[in-house]
Amino acid sequence: MDRLQGKVALVTGGALGIGRSVCELMAREGAAVAVADLDQEHGNEVVQEIRERGGKAEFWKLDVSDEAQVKLVLHQIELKFGPVTVLVNNAGIGGANKPTHELTLEEWEKVQAVNVKGVFLCTKYAIPQMRRAGGGSVIHMSSIYGIVGAPDVPPYHASKGAVTMMAKTDALIYAPDRIRVNSVHPGFIWTPMVENHLKTMPDPDAARAAISSLHPLGHMGQPEDIGWACVYLASDESKFVTGAQIVVDGGYTCR
Ligand SMILES: NC(=O)c1ccc[n+]([C@@H]2O[C@H](COP(=O)([O-])OP(=O)(O)OC[C@H]3O[C@@H](n4cnc5c(N)ncnc54)[C@H](O)[C@@H]3O)[C@@H](O)[C@H]2O)c1
Repeated sequence: MDRLQGKVALVTGGALGIGRSVCELMAREGAAVAVADLDQEHGNEVVQEIRERGGKAEFWKLDVSDEAQVKLVLHQIELKFGPVTVLVNNAGIGGANKPTHELTLEEWEKVQAVNVKGVFLCTKYAIPQMRRAGGGSVIHMSSIYGIVGAPDVPPYHASKGAVTMMAKTDALIYAPDRIRVNSVHPGFIWTPMVENHLKTMPDPDAARAAISSLHPLGHMGQPEDIGWACVYLASDESKFVTGAQIVVDGGYTCR
């Protein structure tokens, strides 16, 4: 119940899917949670649910790819809760699903703006607060697609590979500050992102069964499977873990 007592957690993309579960579980474990997302309606819903259970949370409307917004929101969170000590860089988009030679530059850059630039910006503005607090934990939401290839979504693969390496570099840079930086690599998790992706396919049910079968455990994961991994990385239980790739994929990458 109090694994994260005293921590201040910023979760980007916290309104839906994996981020929502991260917010709920971190609040349940005692963190003050800043829910940041483009989606105000669902973000406010998450905050309300957390407060009804006696937890501490506040919503901030944020586009992680906009530097001025990131800077302002980080400042406001510090005023409200104190310095951020946990940052979950979870906001992400799937983007265009086309072979590389058919992609436009705009489609490529749109994915990098959220999935890579957004991670850079949030980390850049959270680190000084963590330093002031004497340490912290940064968690980049990568993917199995940041470890192994698949013949789809090339900009998404590139973005998830990038944040995997950004975690390792920053783990080295900020270790003397007692700031740990790790990446989490979910397999397919049943969220609006995956649901919408399947809807673009001719037979969504068949596609769901086919994707499920890629996981040796026989099914997709649930948002809380990733949420608990993030709670571990945010907590002092993982105080010797930095620069690690935490894979939560039902065995997908074993092959
Ligand atoms: N669902 C999966 O199977 C899966 C697998 C591996 C990795 N991931 C990663 O996990 C993270 C969450 O995925 P999800 O499936 O929960 O997605 P989702 O689409 O269900 O939810 C993503 C949330 O991010 C928000 N968001 C999008 N762009 C934003 C921006 N510019 N600024 C702020 N918020 C923004 C959305 O409004 C939404 O609330 C993503 O980084 C995704 O790439 C997901």
